[in-house]
Order: sequence, then structure tokens, then C-alpha cells
Amino acid sequence: MSEMIRELLARRRPGYALEQPFYTDPAIFAADMATIFYRDWLFAIPACELEKTGSYVTQQIGAYNVILVRGADGEIRAFHNACRHRGSVICKHERGTSPKLVCPYHQWTYELDGRLLWARDMGADFDAAAHGLKPVHCRTLAGLVYICLAAEAPDFDSFADKVRPYLEVHDLANAKVAHQSSIIENGNWKLVWENNRECYHCGGNHPSLCRTFPEDPVIGGVAGDGNFPAPVEAHFARLEGMGAPSRFHLEEGGQFRVARMPLLDGAQSFTMDGKIAVTKRLGRIPALDAGTLLLFNYPTTWNHFLSDHSITFRVTPISPMETRVTTTWLVHKDAVEGVDYDLKRLTEVWTHTNDEDREVVENNQRGINSPAYEPGPYSAIQEDGVIQFVDWYCATMQNRLTPVQMAAE
Ligand code: FES
Ligand SMILES: [Fe+2]
Repeated sequence: MSEMIRELLARRRPGYALEQPFYTDPAIFAADMATIFYRDWLFAIPACELEKTGSYVTQQIGAYNVILVRGADGEIRAFHNACRHRGSVICKHERGTSPKLVCPYHQWTYELDGRLLWARDMGADFDAAAHGLKPVHCRTLAGLVYICLAAEAPDFDSFADKVRPYLEVHDLANAKVAHQSSIIENGNWKLVWENNRECYHCGGNHPSLCRTFPEDPVIGGVAGDGNFPAPVEAHFARLEGMGAPSRFHLEEGGQFRVARMPLLDGAQSFTMDGKIAVTKRLGRIPALDAGTLLLFNYPTTWNHFLSDHSITFRVTPISPMETRVTTTWLVHKDAVEGVDYDLKRLTEVWTHTNDEDREVVENNQRGINSPAYEPGPYSAIQEDGVIQFVDWYCATMQNRLTPVQMAAE
């Protein structure tokens, strides 16, 4: 299997879309999961989604099902959702609150920190301490919770240290979830990302977003440190002068980027009129027109952190041609719906935009499914972000599908 993928990667034409199997083939999908999603740090939830002790969510990532739960000490931990008795899922639902984690099959009962507390009639020799829930690596960064399914997680600190100052001014510790949407896009996860990484399609598809978000590829792309037009440089300097780190940074390996970019014509937020959506603002940035802090981190998340609210996005592959996109709107925990914000006004731009993106991704997938599909060239002017994503994907696959791994298959 790896050999086939390596051959396809080796003959790839840089600057061009990928060949059909990358978007359709179950074997490549399985390799994407094993090589990327089962090994990298994945954005899971904003920490405030787990409001109190015992609040949990479950997430399906490929074959794995994971529980994220807030403990009595306030810590968020992650566990494999498989009972240490005969393997039943413990949490059956997508979310809930429970004082303990109780298996529905024979009621083995686990503490919120994963320790096995109670198992009926297992005999005197039974070692409960050896049957705690299996942990999943879990880190919280300035209010964003990441997990890693690998036995040994890659470094998280260099990402966290770089991004933390950008995020801290957004005060996600004092956020609450105002709204969450979860949509299925009938397209390969890489098409979801390719679409996200360019705004070549925005003018033709996103009338609401284009009221405030610039189509200029300088804003959403990966133009590189120090190469920004004077107004963007002035925006960075002004916001940094207010204590809000803003300058563009692309990680050396290309896995994440942060930059605080201006919106169109001094717009403040992603609303139909460009004014803020929430009067009780989330974050500590004095300027309403602070623009949007853009953070992408492959393979699971892009985000917008604004002067009044924040929006996280999570990408979860389901099958070769199905991807879940979960969008979460965060506002200040004391902001009151109907008083400090109107939910429709807060969410309508990205609700429309997500649906429009779903449609273009699905159209893209349907076209690629045809035997007549032939990879076409990306626009170097408009699609440098897509080129960067595809280069990152191909380099990551190439580096990780080692001959050693192939020999072991
Ligand atoms: S499988 Fe969980 S208690 Fe038996
Ligand atoms: Fe879009």
C-alpha cells in the first residue's frame, strides 16, 4: 500500500492538484489516518465546552473513540472510550455530564481521572489499579484542547510557546459556547483544506463573508515573513503596540500559521454590517477593528479570533469522501443572548459561508470522481496557501512512509 502511495507522491507535479486516488482511494484514506491523524496533535474542543466537573464529550477519529472529560480538579483529560473489562464503549453519547464514568455493560465505574473505582465480583486477586482507562495525550493551550492518539506524542511545546501569546489576549478562559454547528461535507478532508486555504473562490461563492473578509491572497495565504504591504505592516505594528501579538508566522515545517490580519475597510467582526456582534466582548484587545487572528494547524483546525468573539473550526475525516466540519462560536461567559448579542447576527455569516464551502467542496469531489479528471494547475498568485497545504501533506506522507515502515507491512 505504502509503495503505491510513494509512487504517486514521487510522480506528483508540484503546483498541480493531486491525482484522483488521493481524494477517493480507501487505501490512501487509511494511510492518511494512520500517518497523520493517528500521529499528530489534533484540535479537539475549546476548553469551555466542558463547563463543569464531569462534563464530557466523545469524538470519533477514524477507528478511535475518545472521551474528553473535566475532572474534579478542573483538569481536562482524554481517554480511549473502551472499557477495560470487555471493551464496551463507556460514554454512549456525544456529550453529557456524569459524576463518574460508568460502563453501561456491567457497570465498572471509573473516576473522572480514569482510575477504576469499582468492579463487581472480580475476586480477591483482581488488580483494579491495572485496569484504569487508557489515557490519550491531552494538552490545553490558552483555552484550546488538543489530543494526540500516538503512543508517543510529538513535541507540543514549540507550537504552544509560539501561539500562546497570540491567543492569550483573547481570554478564552472566560469564554462560553454560544453556538456549535457540525456539518458533513461529502468531500475528502484534503479538499476541505484546499478550499479553506484560498479565497480565489470567495467572490463567486461567499457574498456574506466578502462583506468583511478581504479576498486578497496576502491576507489568507502564506506570503511569508516581512513581505506584507504597508497597510498590513501598519496593522501589525498598531495591534502589537496595544499588546496583541500579530505578526505573521509560518512554522518551518509548514504545519501551522498565525497572523492577525485586518478586515475590509476597518470592519470589526464577521457580521452582515461589519460591526461587532457581541457588546460584552471576549478578549482584552482595546481596538474593535483588530481584524482577525488567523490560526491554522494541520490537520484539524483553522480559527478566527476577533475583537468581540472567537470561532474555532475542527476538521474530522469520516471516510474517503466524507468530512465533518465542526464550528464553535465563543463569546464572553457573562454575555447574555438577547442582551449582549443576537445569536442569528453572531452566526449568520459563517453559517452561510460553511454551507457555501460545503457545496463547492462537494462539487469539487464529484468532478474529481470522473475518470476524465486530470489535475490542473493552482494559481501561484491566488492559491499559494493551497500549494503550501498540498506540499505539507505530500512532504509529511513522504517522510513518514519510510522504507522501514513499508518493510514491516
Ligand atoms: S465491558 Fe464494561 S463493565 Fe463489562
Ligand atoms: Fe470558502
